[in-house]
Amino acid sequence: MSAHGDPIPMIARRTGPLNGIADVPGDKSISHRALILGALSVGETRITGLLEGQDVLDTGRAMRAFGAEVLHLGPGEWLVNGVGVGGFAEPGDVIDCGNSGTGVRLIMGAMATSPVTATFTGDASLRKRPMGRVTDPLALFGAAAYGRTGGRLPMTVVGAADPVPVRYAVPVPSAQVKSAVLLAGLNAPGETVVIEREPTRDHTERMLAGFGATLGIEDTEEGRVIALTGQPELRPQTIAVPRDPSSAAFPVCAALIVEGSDVLVPGIGLNPTRAGLFDTLREMGADLSYENPREEGGEPVADLRARFSPAMRGIEVPPERAPSMIDEYPILAVVAAFAEGPTTMRGVRELRVKESDRIAAMADGLTACGARVETGEDWMVVHGMGPGGLPGGATCATHLDHRIAMSFLCAGLAARNPVTVDDAGPIATSFPVFEPLMEKLGAAFARAGA
Ligand code: S3P
Repeated sequence: MSAHGDPIPMIARRTGPLNGIADVPGDKSISHRALILGALSVGETRITGLLEGQDVLDTGRAMRAFGAEVLHLGPGEWLVNGVGVGGFAEPGDVIDCGNSGTGVRLIMGAMATSPVTATFTGDASLRKRPMGRVTDPLALFGAAAYGRTGGRLPMTVVGAADPVPVRYAVPVPSAQVKSAVLLAGLNAPGETVVIEREPTRDHTERMLAGFGATLGIEDTEEGRVIALTGQPELRPQTIAVPRDPSSAAFPVCAALIVEGSDVLVPGIGLNPTRAGLFDTLREMGADLSYENPREEGGEPVADLRARFSPAMRGIEVPPERAPSMIDEYPILAVVAAFAEGPTTMRGVRELRVKESDRIAAMADGLTACGARVETGEDWMVVHGMGPGGLPGGATCATHLDHRIAMSFLCAGLAARNPVTVDDAGPIATSFPVFEPLMEKLGAAFARAGA
């Protein structure tokens, strides 16, 4: 089943070159945070370039349910009239976060230190994902959570009426957990400290500072120590959301594997905590350049240019790079199938608890397409078959996972035989214009059965 309707099977066929400019939408992580922090400040936050994917729309709806005014002014242009730190009202109904782990975990954090109770649910994918990683630290603030076995949704969170600040070392590399603790810390008196051993995406810290919170960040032997002073008055902001590197990854990688391609992807956010894929691709020998590097809205940005790269070689991806490219392993696995030799990805246990078990989903689909893939609990090796070498000719299961769907559709553009995905519907959660954008570059997609 698709995230929000009947399944949409789709076929991708080998095409001529991909050429032109790919205007990818706004960053999903930054879009969620802009809506939530807008709701937590008093007054009008204006956002341009907001990703209007279902995940972000669900977060916008949730912010309304907690009392903020969230208005759609025009394409990508939104206004949030916030209620301030500690000002959340109690929602009158269940909060449905759809497919979005980021949405539900950040919102749980944002409400956990206010005296309100909320019940959260999501689609079949989100209802399988672990929430204990967030509710454990939220309990330290004084919040309580009652969910299904194994800490699964649906789950009711009872916010702490008298929250206390916490000091918490995040046990897994997760920006969602870090962010949930920081957002909860906003309404606790005193200093909340979060320690992360491996640095993860830092959009929450950057945006909190932009909204006027007092935040100290220090790199120590323990890891990155982030100290937040509680109960600030957040000042509303004007936010220009940069374009999403995780979405840019698809036209970029498709261009690298489709013969003769030359694609420009302008204005991509290149925050170092997000750009690991592009370093990896260059190490593999990809013809990928950054043009016109600049800063926009407090984030580094550049235009990416990707050309067909027939001489890519498999590499060992440094495990410490995993947090900065955690969402890009599915499309990297596809590129690896078109490189020469093995690509080894270690330290990627977190892939097992994403929108799907991404190690299993990629291994199953690539194997069905004729590649040799080896896997373990926290690793995967893809044995490349060289440019144009992947046989294809299979139907791949997407398990309600947008990135699995887009990865196999890109594979089908370069494989010897067409590749079908059983459901392209979930793509709308993060990259609603994926199909027309790729078709404009020259991709041959068809709704299966159409
Ligand atoms: C995200 C963090 C990552 C990532 C997700 C978005 C965020 O998850 O996979 O797509 O916006 O904070 P984890 O922090 O759980 O690794």
